Amino acid sequence: MRVKVSRKAHFNAAHRLYRSDWDLDQNKAVFGLCSNPNFHGHNYDLIVSVTGEIDPETGFVMDMKILKDLIKSEIENAFDHKNLNIEVPEFKTLNPTSENIAVVIYNKLRPHIALEKDIEVVLYETPRNFVTYSGS
Ligand code: NI
Repeated sequence: MRVKVSRKAHFNAAHRLYRSDWDLDQNKAVFGLCSNPNFHGHNYDLIVSVTGEIDPETGFVMDMKILKDLIKSEIENAFDHKNLNIEVPEFKTLNPTSENIAVVIYNKLRPHIALEKDIEVVLYETPRNFVTYSGS
């Protein structure tokens, strides 16, 4: 009996989407407002889900306090109120799109959660735009 448990979190961060090998017009055409050379912010909402067997001793799939602390230490502390392009090493050469941010979040959490559990990351860049990554 596998059950999915989820924790919501939030961070504010600035970014700019661009390719240095494209000129401004091409960046604007593809990335729109997100290519503004002076950066801009988003209020990111994050849902991290863990799916696994219920531990018969505790009744938990995962202790939610541990998941909460993990998201705080690995994600919020690294991303919140940061300029993703400049201050977060993973995005030095990787465009900080929602897709790439979700993959980076997954990869940062994966080593800390038992392998028999599955992880799913849902990242909202706006209330209407969100991406999902679950490791494949
Ligand atoms: Ni943007």
